[in-house]
Amino acid sequence: MERREFLKRGGMAAAGFSILPTGALFAQHKDKVRLGYIGVGARGMNHINEGALREDVEIVAICDTQESSLKICREYLAKKGRPAAKEYTGSLDAYKALLDRTDIDAVIISTPWQFHHEQSIYAMNAGKYVGCEVIAGLTVKEHWDIVNTSEKTGIPYMTLENVCYRRDVLAALNMVRQDVFGELIHLEGGYQHDLREVLFNNGKQYYGGGVEYGPSALSEAQWRTQFNIDQDGDLYPTHGIGPIMQYANINRGNRFTNMVSFSSKARGLANHVEKLSPGHPNAKLNYKNGDVTTTLINCANGETVQLTHDVHLPRPYSLGFRVQGTKGLWMDVNKSIHIEGQTKAHAWESTETWFKKYDHPLWKKYEKDALGAGHGGMDWFVFNGFILAVKEKKQTPIDVYDSVTMSVITPLSTKSLKESNKPQEIPDFTRGKWRNRTNTFALDDSGY
Ligand SMILES: NC(=O)c1ccc[n+]([C@@H]2O[C@H](COP(=O)([O-])OP(=O)(O)OC[C@H]3O[C@@H](n4cnc5c(N)ncnc54)[C@H](O)[C@@H]3O)[C@@H](O)[C@H]2O)c1
Repeated sequence: MERREFLKRGGMAAAGFSILPTGALFAQHKDKVRLGYIGVGARGMNHINEGALREDVEIVAICDTQESSLKICREYLAKKGRPAAKEYTGSLDAYKALLDRTDIDAVIISTPWQFHHEQSIYAMNAGKYVGCEVIAGLTVKEHWDIVNTSEKTGIPYMTLENVCYRRDVLAALNMVRQDVFGELIHLEGGYQHDLREVLFNNGKQYYGGGVEYGPSALSEAQWRTQFNIDQDGDLYPTHGIGPIMQYANINRGNRFTNMVSFSSKARGLANHVEKLSPGHPNAKLNYKNGDVTTTLINCANGETVQLTHDVHLPRPYSLGFRVQGTKGLWMDVNKSIHIEGQTKAHAWESTETWFKKYDHPLWKKYEKDALGAGHGGMDWFVFNGFILAVKEKKQTPIDVYDSVTMSVITPLSTKSLKESNKPQEIPDFTRGKWRNRTNTFALDDSGY
């Protein structure tokens, strides 16, 4: 029976979402994953690179609305000695023909945020595993749509949240699980990255100056900047909240209950444009996204979380992690640890020896494979985890509930700000299953 036919008949759904089919049914795809890609811009090309490195991945089809992106991808595959991928382009709906193919197992979606929801829903309905870049949807309802479609079809959905696999982040997870910090009390993280040269460029180079955004610009300045103009809120929560969710066992014995956001005034983007091009109209826009947005989140088990979005001001990159428990804490901004009785009283100690000692088994095993990949190696792990899940027809390491919980922070923070910092309930996307669900993420060195 064709996989889609099986899904249409509700086989997976009837068997229960957590019980994915294994063995003979999908044996034909066991050794190789046939992948389609929607969006092969900057991030999509990172995933193409990951796919091209692997013998167990066939890059079958690519879709993009811009010839410039397709050309880079086409030439890259040829350079790597990979067969040409069938190309889909010509309209915003071109991705549907790619997903209608019956010979593709899974899709990697790396398009602008506004397309993720519709493309992921179409993909799940077409029976394809979905690995989607961060941001699952733009509204709370769109997040529920993703959950409902995944449950209805039985198709796993994974946010490709790479920071969950960062080496220090995983070492800290290892320490949390071995009780080094004691009972967790408070967590912090965020997206703190000077994006001014990403949000504005000259249409030719990603970095290096320029004050344009929209169609005349390049890459994310074509579409992302508009969000920073139109919307206040934490627009990019997943790099910070993804790891925090693993530390705090969110959706697995714990859950986020409610949250509130505060935003500062917005000066950074206008100042940036004015400095590069005095009097330019883009320096006079009414930027709604505050320069620093702070979100406070409550957990059912009593921990608090502070999440920061800070992308318009001059600053070095830091996701600002802080993991604090009854025995001590880690702060990544000064790469320091303090554990009562084990480090000097009232003093910081470098993370170096601690993170070596608690290096995660995944990194110990796969260091050599990962180090050539993007973002210091974490991109290799997130891609690998997704591919292994597809190959073995298992649940993805970051599942649909985790994915939407990370991303729903954005519309809720925008709503909180619109309502004068009113607290917002965070939906329980698991519908109560969080109480009995257990951890599955990075439990050992199996690759998940
Ligand atoms: N996890 C990470 O570390 C990381 C890093 C960068 C970007 N991202 C995410 O990846 C996604 C893509 O970002 P990017 O930097 O590659 O942006 P980009 O602008 O460089 O690439 C987007 C690509 O999608 C194409 N596209 C636009 N609409 C389309 C449609 N309807 N159908 C098919 N193709 C379409 C564009 O032509 C472009 O080639 C975003 O969600 C972004 O937040 C994640």
